[in-house]
Amino acid sequence: MKFFLDTADIAEIREAQETGLLDGITTNPSHVAKSGRNFIELVREICEIVPGPVSAEVTAEGKDEMLRQGRFLADLAPNVVVKVPLTQEGLKAVKVFTEEGIKTNVTLCFSPVQALLAAKVGATYISPFVGRLDDIAIEGMQGIRDIRAIYDNYGFGTQILTASTRSAMHIQDAAIAGSDVATMPMALFKKLVNNPLTDIGLKLFDTDWNKIPEANRTY
Ligand code: G3P
Repeated sequence: MKFFLDTADIAEIREAQETGLLDGITTNPSHVAKSGRNFIELVREICEIVPGPVSAEVTAEGKDEMLRQGRFLADLAPNVVVKVPLTQEGLKAVKVFTEEGIKTNVTLCFSPVQALLAAKVGATYISPFVGRLDDIAIEGMQGIRDIRAIYDNYGFGTQILTASTRSAMHIQDAAIAGSDVATMPMALFKKLVNNPLTDIGLKLFDTDWNKIPEANRTY
């Protein structure tokens, strides 16, 4: 499963890139607002740091303006993926982007039937939001399992990008469900490696190693 970082923070992106685990970036208007940066300069900079797919979101509501914005964004760098909301107008725009060879990430997906529509217009990625569903007591991960089943039933190539992740359990369950990608905030990305038994085990090995006479453990 590919790992994307859900952020527009350059320092976080550089840090994640150094781990060797990062496959791409997803941004959204909220992340861009938080960065305080010029949107276009930011997208260009992220695309230079990360060779993998970088999602940049259109903000128009109508198809024609979405197409203008999306084409502009796609021209910024070869790894830009145009992020489009899952609305009727958005789906119309995705259909055109698909015909033009522009990669798309259909966002704000909250049901498997919405994901089916995105696949039918040729979306490159579908972003179902698991955390925001969990927040309102609807099991987000069941949606990922159902989308996987629907896409496999019909051989759709749209990649499932599990979004709005909040916990290591979300990442683990998304991988078990066969999600192609999970995007996550930096705080979660950092937590995935942690296990207290690893720390306890390491300490024990270190203690035992130091019991060995130095001459027997120098190499
Ligand atoms: O960028 C899309 C999604 O990952 C946002 O997550 O935490 O705002 O629900 P969140």
